[in-house]
Amino acid sequence: MRYKCCKYLHNGMCFMLNRIKTCNDLHYGVVLFDTETDGNVIDINKVFEKRRELVENCKKGIYFEPCVNCDKFVEDDWDDNINIVYLSIFHWLHCNCACVYCFQANEREAIGGYSDNVEKSQYYDAYPVLKYLYDNNMMEKGKLRVEFGGGEPAILKELPDLISLINKNGFEYCLIMSSGIRYSEDIEKLLQNPNTQFTVTIAAGSREIYKKIKQRDKFFEVKNNLKRYIENSSNPDNIWVRYLIYEGINDTEKDIKDWLDMCVEINAKSVEMTFEFCQSFNEKKGQPYPSRLKELIDYYLEEGKKTNLHCLVDMTTQGIIARGYY
Ligand SMILES: C[S@@+](CC[C@H](N)C(=O)[O-])C[C@H]1O[C@@H](n2cnc3c(N)ncnc32)[C@H](O)[C@@H]1O
Ligand code: SF4
Ligand code: SF4
Repeated sequence: MRYKCCKYLHNGMCFMLNRIKTCNDLHYGVVLFDTETDGNVIDINKVFEKRRELVENCKKGIYFEPCVNCDKFVEDDWDDNINIVYLSIFHWLHCNCACVYCFQANEREAIGGYSDNVEKSQYYDAYPVLKYLYDNNMMEKGKLRVEFGGGEPAILKELPDLISLINKNGFEYCLIMSSGIRYSEDIEKLLQNPNTQFTVTIAAGSREIYKKIKQRDKFFEVKNNLKRYIENSSNPDNIWVRYLIYEGINDTEKDIKDWLDMCVEINAKSVEMTFEFCQSFNEKKGQPYPSRLKELIDYYLEEGKKTNLHCLVDMTTQGIIARGYY
């Protein structure tokens, strides 16, 4: 049937910090479950009914306000299958470092700052929900497109169970993002599937810059862990060593050159560069970005050509550059 809808409304579920939503916080999305109003026990059938109701409303031309102006909300031929294909797992805060750029920095301070301990989300567990969805044929098995953010996945207690569940049922795409401080044998298992993309934002090429950015002295651990992941992956091209430019700390050509040299040294195949855009999104929104940031990106791409690295610029950063403002 042809009507206006969105792939996340139709086939998505996003485990955010204290809520389950249709899509992640980069869009507005519709809240399907909220620990503040619904408590900590998730009635997954109720969540599914709410999703069904949203789709039925779209068929009748009754739209949820935040979706109307969203670029993902499009007229198309939608089938009747609203099982989950798009899944985001971002429901915890715990992390083993304190990046100066992290958009969760304030909330993490409230739970005592960084920690090396393996932790559960303080709000809810995602594994029982996902298990229920699989057991009750509410997932599109094998077609899953999943993202793991956080917090830090490598210290999430549920990670081994979550990974074994999705590995068992198959997926078309999995993105997992990590600080790289703790080596995870479970992430290594995911790296045996060529549909996995793995990113580690080291954001530095030296111990001194790393300490300033991450507020921990773990540069050599991350470098060694990255090397180990690259060696133990079935497809090293899918491991992305990332650099986030943070003005005033790691924003010189030398900083970028040191990072590229380190990437070559550890035999990385793929690298990516991004602007900082989340922390400052509201205050910078609509403002032009400093032209020197673009000069640094150009420098990175030019220097990258002298190596065998596959050099990408993050998609959101490309968008900022193309439109000229944040
Ligand atoms: C919130 S982190 C969580 C996963 C993991 N701890 C990590 O850092 O990769 C997810 C992604 O957001 C990116 N990120 C965090 N803060 C950002 C910011 N202020 N601007 C742009 N990207 C940011 C990180 O580089 C990482 O790729
Ligand atoms: S239309 Fe936009 S805001 Fe609405 S669910 Fe889809 S991505 Fe989220
Ligand atoms: S590693 Fe990720 S979650 Fe941890 S502080 Fe950095 S950006 Fe935030």
